Amino acid sequence: MLILAIESSCDETAAAIVEDGRKVLSNVVSSQIKIHEEFGGVVPEVAAREHLNSINLVIDECFKNAGLKRSCIDAFASTVGPGLVGCLLVGLNASKTLSLVHNKPYIGVNHLNAHVCANFIDTDLKPPFVCLLVSGGHTQVIYVKDYDKQEILASTIDDAVGEVYDKVARLCSICYPGGVLLDKMAQEGDSTRFNFPIAKVKEDEFSFSGLKTAVLREVKKFSKDELPKKDIAASFQKTIADTLITKTKNIADKMNCKTIALAGGVAANSELRKRLKELEAQGYKTNAPQMKYCTDNASMVASSAYFNPIKCDNPLMLEVFSRG
Ligand code: KG4
Ligand code: ZN
Repeated sequence: MLILAIESSCDETAAAIVEDGRKVLSNVVSSQIKIHEEFGGVVPEVAAREHLNSINLVIDECFKNAGLKRSCIDAFASTVGPGLVGCLLVGLNASKTLSLVHNKPYIGVNHLNAHVCANFIDTDLKPPFVCLLVSGGHTQVIYVKDYDKQEILASTIDDAVGEVYDKVARLCSICYPGGVLLDKMAQEGDSTRFNFPIAKVKEDEFSFSGLKTAVLREVKKFSKDELPKKDIAASFQKTIADTLITKTKNIADKMNCKTIALAGGVAANSELRKRLKELEAQGYKTNAPQMKYCTDNASMVASSAYFNPIKCDNPLMLEVFSRG
């Protein structure tokens, strides 16, 4: 089954054609980073307009790269939410239009589920597994019992990990996109220099606001020119990875599950990927999506459309939603 999917929930306009949820035939991503850089973050109205400017070009390129005609597609999909409403509307309407014109089904997809499904791309991974989902808006440990049966076993009570990365980057005067730049700095820093706290919360909770405050306290001790950005980044990154990996492993043990996967934009983080891989020495099977399928892309949306579509009687009536 060939699915063309569109992703436009935030600052990436993306289209992909994927066969049977796993084999990517074409994956096009047009990033708006350059546009939002001058504002220091994503401006929703600007992002929506940019999606409008790029959507047709991105879809055209997607078909060109795959060497396929529109009539070859079996279903058209798009992210329905959560995300920025004005942005989601662009992808949703483009996909519904293609579905109506070519008389093929439209499939709505949940963005968070799409991140989880990135683990199926180019792999033979099968449920059950425990998945740590870490993105700009969410931090969850999910038990993927089956392709369409998932249970949230832990989540954050305050900031999401990606959000904390972006905020700490700002504290250190590192510009947008903060997470990826902070990760680069951390790789050159001393992770033992600062001892940041790990929040004491329940086993089904994460909390990162205390860590953020602790970083702020250290930053204030230095003048702007003398700020040891690399060491702060490395110590912060180690604390985040310790917290996430320890809790995820404990939950997997509790569920008697030996397979652990990563998902979401922060799954591109070097330390997190390294620490996940290290679990293999302890007998766990691990999976992290390829870097290009961690941050927002449409291949993961196509995979989710195949394995876990939003169920409803008339998908063409699906509306976008902002929060999940
Ligand atoms: O999943 P995503 O692309 O968008 C959402 O659905 O939120 O995640 C974006 C988040 C941002 O907060 C970004 O700073 C973070 O992922 N991110 C990273 C890295 N690459 C992206 N955080 C830490 N290390 C990275 N290498
Ligand atoms: Zn995302």
